[in-house]
Amino acid sequence: MAKIGIFDSGYGGLTILDAIRRELPGYDYLYLGDNARAPYGTHSFDVIYRYTLQAVQYLINKNCALIILACNTASAKALRTIQQKDLVTINDERLAMSRGKPVNVLGVIRPTVEAVPAITKSKHVGILGTPATVSSESYVLELEKIAPNLTISQQACPMWVPLIESGEFTNEGADFFVDEYLRAILSKDPQIDTLVLGCTHYPLLQAKIDAWLQNNPIIPNTPNIQTIAQGDLVAHSLKDYLSRHPEYREQLITGGSCTYLTTENADRFSQSASNFLGSPIQAESIQLGN
Ligand code: DGL
Repeated sequence: MAKIGIFDSGYGGLTILDAIRRELPGYDYLYLGDNARAPYGTHSFDVIYRYTLQAVQYLINKNCALIILACNTASAKALRTIQQKDLVTINDERLAMSRGKPVNVLGVIRPTVEAVPAITKSKHVGILGTPATVSSESYVLELEKIAPNLTISQQACPMWVPLIESGEFTNEGADFFVDEYLRAILSKDPQIDTLVLGCTHYPLLQAKIDAWLQNNPIIPNTPNIQTIAQGDLVAHSLKDYLSRHPEYREQLITGGSCTYLTTENADRFSQSASNFLGSPIQAESIQLGN
């Protein structure tokens, strides 16, 4: 029987894992954070694709039938190629070797995009993401398909993931970069009423972001702006997906366990992840690639 794999470049995917386990507590999960190579968001397409494929192959070898790329950067840069090319080969080989059941990989951008049109009233939306997610234009292209009436602005926030990965995100120094990127996106479009946290790390900064919006009304509307985190959206979407796909659901173990893997030091990951999740966990260290 198989597990659900949850992958991120580092700690950000824990915000997705946490919501998924609240929504679907019965399944067994395997979390993999590639903390040793984070941040992904400043790398090129080739590097992000290669790192993500290595993680996906690792999780499939560890018997994950369904893998969630709990990372917008990997979802924007690698998901399509993995789904259209690598998974076809992997599933053909599995069937040829009578290992039987198919595996699949899902991302976090589509479930987020589907929720946005119903949330915004002004129809002006801001996307905050890593440089790679923003340059991919994935949010803009996907939103334009389902809601062509929206005005969309984007802002890359290259310092936010490093602040979170280094544990500096609650310190006063982080306020400087919260101010910088929020000011930048709202000066692009002062009518924004919905800000998408388009990186799974960003909910760890949400308290600072929301406090800035409340206390720094550079434009009259600022305190009314909503910030959208992705955890619940992805969890609901996965639940719906499993209800429509018995070929994956029926492969999954229902033991309620979660195993944590990191490419960094296990104790360091365990300590930070325990803080983020609010309960103690013990991770194992693994190596991806060469
Ligand atoms: N959590 C990843 C995302 O959602 C962060 C990527 C990074 O490592 O820069 O984009």
